[in-house]
Amino acid sequence: MKNVIVGQSGGPTAVINSSLLGVYKTATDRGADIVYGMVHGIKGLLERDIVDLSQRFKNDLDNDLLKRTPSSFLGSCRYKLPDVKGNAEIYEKIFKILSDLEIYAFFYIGGNDSMDTIKKLTDYGAEIHSPIRFIGVPKTIDNDLAVTDHTPGFGSAAKYIAATTKEIIRDGLVYDYPVVSIIEVMGRNAGWLTAATALAKGEDCEGVDAIYLPEVVFDREKFLNFVGNLLKQNRSVVIAVSEGIKIADGRYVCELSEHVDYVDAFGHKQLAGTARYLAGEVAKTFGVKTRAIELSSLQRCASHIQSRVDVTEAYNAGGAAVKAAFEGLNGQVITLKRITDDPYMCITEPADVHFIANVEKKVPLEWITPDGANVKRELTRYIFPLIQGEIAPLWVNGLPRHIRLNVSTKK
Ligand code: F6P
Repeated sequence: MKNVIVGQSGGPTAVINSSLLGVYKTATDRGADIVYGMVHGIKGLLERDIVDLSQRFKNDLDNDLLKRTPSSFLGSCRYKLPDVKGNAEIYEKIFKILSDLEIYAFFYIGGNDSMDTIKKLTDYGAEIHSPIRFIGVPKTIDNDLAVTDHTPGFGSAAKYIAATTKEIIRDGLVYDYPVVSIIEVMGRNAGWLTAATALAKGEDCEGVDAIYLPEVVFDREKFLNFVGNLLKQNRSVVIAVSEGIKIADGRYVCELSEHVDYVDAFGHKQLAGTARYLAGEVAKTFGVKTRAIELSSLQRCASHIQSRVDVTEAYNAGGAAVKAAFEGLNGQVITLKRITDDPYMCITEPADVHFIANVEKKVPLEWITPDGANVKRELTRYIFPLIQGEIAPLWVNGLPRHIRLNVSTKK
């Protein structure tokens, strides 16, 4: 039997299901007997919560819908596998389940934390001489994965953010009195996504007035002075901030307000409220109208504005993962390697998971302006090819049609 299993893990993206499709189609084309899906990632696998994907994807329409459906079709988890030492029974259980299912290859679609799962399973598998191959498929809107040029999911989120920023800038100029709009963008400790707001600037758009990334320490006084100066010249001020900006003592700006203390299994604090806090400070200091715009989950589930390049690369990364496993590779992550910018060309290449798991790739400081309040052309040039092209939703009754797994949504 040549059965394979695939799971999705971490925060979703608008194209993560294209990678799932890439794994499913390629595995089927290459003769896999059963393609299983883990429901809610490794956490579901531990509870033997799995589905046979061939029972779900019956025809080309299902495939077309899957590509256009946001979020993780199989459900996701934020679950960190503990170290083997002292927890061998968890690993024994996983390998027993995989062996009962006669699994030949295991694919996990996720970001750097999820690649930690691939790394740990690869290492344990080597210890017990397991023949199962473990391959990671990259995904994250944050674009913070090491080795790869960029990650599937980033391009579509960047496209949504840049388009929305243009719209916010137009809206900000509607009245004859000042308005300060602060847009909060996801990305945790890496500013790639926030930098995508710079793409808004063009012959039909003034662009944002400042961009604050987590790579640079945030200074509240400098920020307020900057806004004060802008208000002397402009009626509308639009500023983009990353959810992960921190002040000099290491606290997140969002922790300065009434913050939420939720921490996930990877030790990540929930980051939200940065724009609300800063808008409050601006309103208090200058007595002007402000808007705090938290893009939140909108930026990662906007499948109605997917980037065609991103969809294609997400699909190819899934396919390349299957190819790698079927050619005998193990403990690898599929990376994207940019060959040229113009015309844009990119290929997939497997890389050792040990160089990728748990490493965060940040925006290089040389791509940020010296005042720390904007990004340079190199950064917009890097992002632009990734947002090119569109895939139209399949509209039904005026709304995009999605496909969903018929599993319980109850706790
Ligand atoms: O996985 C990336 C990400 O979208 C981050 O940008 C964001 O900080 C985080 O996930 C939010 O995660 P959750 O959905 O668990 O709140």
